[in-house]
Amino acid sequence: MFITFEGIDGCGKSTHAKLLSDFLNRKGFKTLILREPGGTEFSEKIRDILLTSEYVLNPEIELLLFEAARSHLTQNIIKKELNAGTAVISDRYFDSTTAYQGYGRGIDLNIINICNHLSTNGLKPDITFYLDLEINEALARSKDRVLDNIEKSGNSFFEKVIEGYKKIAIEEPDRVIIINANGTVEETYNQIINHINQKFFLNQT
Ligand code: TYD
Repeated sequence: MFITFEGIDGCGKSTHAKLLSDFLNRKGFKTLILREPGGTEFSEKIRDILLTSEYVLNPEIELLLFEAARSHLTQNIIKKELNAGTAVISDRYFDSTTAYQGYGRGIDLNIINICNHLSTNGLKPDITFYLDLEINEALARSKDRVLDNIEKSGNSFFEKVIEGYKKIAIEEPDRVIIINANGTVEETYNQIINHINQKFFLNQT
């Protein structure tokens, strides 16, 4: 079982990854929570370069570094864990690249799709939750945080990213579920668990 969370910064992905992991543990699953970019020592180094270094990176370099980090994580951790029966939950995966580097930065979506395919070898999540949060709410939630390099890109960039995520969800409705994340943690959690129950546990008593 491979589940990913997507959405703009401040939408609560990491909180819900943890809550879902706890839920699946109670169902008897071994779980692993990952984050992208990151999850291996190599990919965490790339994360530092991308998010906190002083290098000025053009969108193409950004794309290739995110894909390099993803490739290492997919080959070394995700595939092995899935084969071992672990429920893998990732805070971001290739939809982030489509939304941020594709729709946000404006790189040709055909190129993005090819790069995403290359880094994942075609591995797709069983289900992806896009936590949809209004930009003002996201800004309010992130006002006390130090912004990473990508988050410094400004509001119009984030509006394009949000539009991108919505298009991704429309294009792949069977995989990508839009969750309204403007409410309380509990309200968001309940929506997520309903979908998980429908997809994985409906036939169980
Ligand atoms: P994230 O770990 O969600 O940030 P935080 O720890 O602050 O919650 O994501 C890191 C940043 O990288 C985020 O601004 C989104 C960006 N990103 C991309 O632009 N493209 C990608 O492919 C990925 C995985 C992340």
